[in-house]
Amino acid sequence: MPINDKNQNKRKIVIIGLGVGGLYAAKSSMNTDRTAEVTIIEKRDFDMFSACGLPFAIEGIVPNFEALKFPVPGHLRRLNKLLNHEVISIDTKNKSVSGKNLDSEEIIDAKNRKGALGYTRSGKEAMLKTCPKIKPIKKNPAKYDLVIIGTPVWFFTMASPVRTYLSKNKFKKVAFFLTMHGSGDRKTFKAMQRVCKKKPVSVLSLTMKEVKNGDYIPKIKQFIKTMG
Ligand SMILES: Cc1cc2nc3c(=O)[nH]c(=O)nc-3n(C[C@H](O)[C@H](O)[C@H](O)COP(=O)(O)OP(=O)(O)OC[C@H]3O[C@@H](n4cnc5c(N)ncnc54)[C@H](O)[C@@H]3O)c2cc1C
Ligand SMILES: Cc1cc2nc3c(=O)[nH]c(=O)nc-3n(C[C@H](O)[C@H](O)[C@H](O)COP(=O)(O)O)c2cc1C
Repeated sequence: MPINDKNQNKRKIVIIGLGVGGLYAAKSSMNTDRTAEVTIIEKRDFDMFSACGLPFAIEGIVPNFEALKFPVPGHLRRLNKLLNHEVISIDTKNKSVSGKNLDSEEIIDAKNRKGALGYTRSGKEAMLKTCPKIKPIKKNPAKYDLVIIGTPVWFFTMASPVRTYLSKNKFKKVAFFLTMHGSGDRKTFKAMQRVCKKKPVSVLSLTMKEVKNGDYIPKIKQFIKTMG
């Protein structure tokens, strides 16, 4: 690297957590070293949040929880933000952190499926391979290298809102996971593959018993390992 390269001596500072503490740590670092490259890693998918306002939101004085969110102040433009990332380990010797990307999208059903009527309707939709209306999605899955899609098993196939999501979107690579009472996983994976026209790189099936007993960790590790 050339001696006069200005980036060579630039300090890289990483701060974990975009709370008030993290923000002030960043501000102070940037004031101390005006050339430093400061990055805040935050697991939430939004900037800041007023915890002090929570009682007001619960009481209804503030209209909703969304109103408690606010962006990082504009004068901290130099600050790099990495939202949706959770730090899972810190290597002080090598001065590095590792984490995972928590980017996710919830498939939100437009229908109310509560009660016996909801159960019957859901079962019928699953069997008839219906694609019910879902709320508009916020993220385009085609832009992601890998999308992991989960579903409960409904009458030996995927839940109907998941069918809608898979049929209406394009994917580069997919991995599937599902929860079930005890049977239907293989048929469900095959159906999901057929609908999105992609062979999954990895699949994971969990019974409700495994979920309740917390016996899923080795299976999840294997699921992640197979993804490469
Ligand atoms: C109900 C309530 C009312 C309050 N009222 C007041 C008040 O009136 N006045 C007052 O002064 N204070 C008040 N406080 C306290 C104040 O909000 C907190 O002290 C302040 O938010 C703490 O800031 P922090 O940055 O230390 O932590 P947090 O705000 O908790 O920030 C920590 C951040 O780190 C992120 N994080 C954690 N682990 C990881 C990880 N592994 N990887 C990536 N990101 C991670 C979290 O998502 C979080 O955003 C109140 C708090 C509450 C809950
Ligand atoms: C309409 C419907 C049909 C279901 N069909 C099956 C099935 O064929 N096989 C099975 O093992 N579990 C079946 N289940 C159980 C669900 O798969 C299980 O409750 C679910 O995975 C739990 O996820 P949830 O908490 O999102 O409902 C069915 C549940 C519903 C509501």
